[in-house]
Amino acid sequence: MKKVEFTETVLRDANQSLIATRMTEPEFEPVLSKLDKAGYYSLECWGGATFDACLRYLDEDPWERLRKIRKACPNTKLQMLLRGQNLLGYKHYPNDVVRLFVRKSVENGIDIIRIFDALNDVRNLKVAVDETLKCGAHASGTICFTVSPIHDLESYVKLAGELESMGVQSICVKDMAGIMGPQEAYDLVSALKKNVKLPIVVHTHSTTGLGPITLQKAVEAGADVIDTSISCFSNGTSQPPTETLAYSFAQQGWQVDLDTKLLKEINDFFKPLRAKYLENGTLNPLVMGTSTDALNYQIPGGMLSNLVAQLTAQNKLDKLDEVLEETPRVRKDLGYPPLVTPMSQMVGVQATANVLAGERYKNVSKEVKSYLKGEYGRAPGKLNEELVKKVLGDEKPYEGVYAETLEPGIPPAREYLGSRAACDEDVLSYIAFPAQAEAFFDRREAKKKNTFSYKITKID
Ligand code: CO
Repeated sequence: MKKVEFTETVLRDANQSLIATRMTEPEFEPVLSKLDKAGYYSLECWGGATFDACLRYLDEDPWERLRKIRKACPNTKLQMLLRGQNLLGYKHYPNDVVRLFVRKSVENGIDIIRIFDALNDVRNLKVAVDETLKCGAHASGTICFTVSPIHDLESYVKLAGELESMGVQSICVKDMAGIMGPQEAYDLVSALKKNVKLPIVVHTHSTTGLGPITLQKAVEAGADVIDTSISCFSNGTSQPPTETLAYSFAQQGWQVDLDTKLLKEINDFFKPLRAKYLENGTLNPLVMGTSTDALNYQIPGGMLSNLVAQLTAQNKLDKLDEVLEETPRVRKDLGYPPLVTPMSQMVGVQATANVLAGERYKNVSKEVKSYLKGEYGRAPGKLNEELVKKVLGDEKPYEGVYAETLEPGIPPAREYLGSRAACDEDVLSYIAFPAQAEAFFDRREAKKKNTFSYKITKID
């Protein structure tokens, strides 16, 4: 019997996409044992923005969160999202940091690490994949899906083959913008199924409304696992609903191992949380709706709202059409990078600068300069040579792997933190988000001493 499996995203991507990862561990802890018994392929619960949000906004130790989820969910695979050599941030980290981060993630409870690179440059995935395999965990090699004149089936199949030969145990097609149509999904999954022997996972967002139809065609083409979110935290910028897809595939004769009764109880659990976040304004009803703008402009919805915000702040919203025309030109000059963080911001900011200055590349951002130097990896297509010459002059772009040029990062961080770091996990928190981690350590120390701080108000 044909079978489809489900990864539940409510703890990570749905939480991140709908309410900026503000759901706390104590809030969802009571439902963990049900999630563990519902029959999911995996629970996506860590990585992405969870780490940053825990330290910055929630006063939670992200590692402690992971250990608590692990304890409450002994039967289901726990999954995280990792940006290859960038880990959870936007810059490249030295190899020793990447290795220790992966090792500690697995030690604290992660089973599956979905590893991606914004440029689909496999060299940026190598160390993270290698360490994941050494730790005995499951490495899911990821293809960032995008649409451009140079991204075709052949290029994706080639990428999947490279990931397979690196030893990954599954291939994930990651459509971060929700722009992958049903036919594209069908063709891509069919081609992957024909050319690689690994299970295929499909990740999309409901932003443009295509999500459920795209997953239907992906599964028809042979996708083994799909990402969905429990219904009251589904749709809009989040994933398609778990219960709906489970119902639909079961009706069409697929084997679905999810427990319908438990899914209902899980959804009932999250309903008051959704109500709370709607009421306090954390959940904006707009993000739960459908926005088809991304289909017209071929740029992700999040990037579009950033452009609007940037122009509004400068009182230049009348330039939006020009910026939208300039965006694909900048993307072409940069060799068609997928518009995912940090490339979406880089392209958007540069397009805006080009329009507002009235001259293309009069001002070039620091990030574009680093990108042209090769510090983010290899551009998918050809860079605009004139632009490279203008920005770099005689300086030669870097051909190798940028991280190889970096000094080890663990020893100096250990030395700097001294006794303030209780363990290697603390050192990694500090390396990932220095200011937030230090503030967190201080608060933790204050709590331990049972002391409190206060401001002195002078009364004259
Ligand atoms: Co996503």
